[in-house]
Amino acid sequence: MDLKGRSLLSLEDFTANEIRFLLDESKRLKADFKAYKRTKPLSGLTLGMIFQKRSTRTRVSTEVAMYNLGGHAIFLSSADIQLGGGETVKDTSRVLTRMVDGVLARVYSHDDVVELAEYSTVPVINALSDKYHPLQILADLLTIEEHKGDLAGLKLAWVGDGNNVCNSLLIGCAKMGMNMSVATPKGYEPPSDVVEKAKDYADETGAEIVITNDAIAAVTSADIVVTDTFVSMGEEEEAAAKLKEFENYIVTEELVAYAKPNYIFMHCLPYKHKEATEEVFESKNSVVFDEAENRLHTVMAVLNCFMGG
Ligand code: CP
Ligand code: NVA
Repeated sequence: MDLKGRSLLSLEDFTANEIRFLLDESKRLKADFKAYKRTKPLSGLTLGMIFQKRSTRTRVSTEVAMYNLGGHAIFLSSADIQLGGGETVKDTSRVLTRMVDGVLARVYSHDDVVELAEYSTVPVINALSDKYHPLQILADLLTIEEHKGDLAGLKLAWVGDGNNVCNSLLIGCAKMGMNMSVATPKGYEPPSDVVEKAKDYADETGAEIVITNDAIAAVTSADIVVTDTFVSMGEEEEAAAKLKEFENYIVTEELVAYAKPNYIFMHCLPYKHKEATEEVFESKNSVVFDEAENRLHTVMAVLNCFMGG
């Protein structure tokens, strides 16, 4: 399958077959670590990495991936480049495009990564926006498959905020035929346009998408229980109010007792210690560090397919 030149703004733009291909490529690269280090498929290619927000996993996995594939990555914090000082997204894109072979961007507004792509002649990869986090979901799907086998028919329960990670999981799960139940406090449900899209994909794959305010109902018989911080980057001023509203949505041992006994617990990290108890986070069911490691293998597949081909 040829994905050369493609951008990844949201998993919406990828078919189930293309997602399947990226997951298989991730597995291949993970298993054959020495081969790609030897062949250096991205030799001579450069990736510009714009970061308007902080990052551990996304930055390190991408930088290491470019190094492993024989290419070069430039870290462009918006505190350092002119984008943070008033130069427009449109001009930033038109300049970078003439110098680099790919752009990865972590932005506040999803519209900004869309605009970067609009003016770019090279692949643009969304490294998290306020709406989506597609790279995370490729790593999540790989992790689920490694621990649970076939994705189709599994039940994933999301408990917490209807945020960027939740949105991308809705799209990814629905496309891969996974059932997903989302439990949030009232007013924090995922946006209706995302839910509608997920339900449309689910209709095609036979998956079930449920949006509820009932955490127990969501977690009952789940194969996978997932949460994320209740306070995303950029929402710091709302922290006190949100933490109060999310009190009944903390992933506790009492809550996960409703899941299947061999359920896995996932969290994209960073763990802020409010959204799940230490007992759940550190339990034998927790696969959060496998999930973090898979950020490397999946971004390597994305970069190799989009930039190398
Ligand atoms: N999960 C994730 O994207 O982590 P970082 O914010 O550290 O990149
Ligand atoms: N929802 C979180 C994810 C961090 C990886 C945020 O946007 O801050």
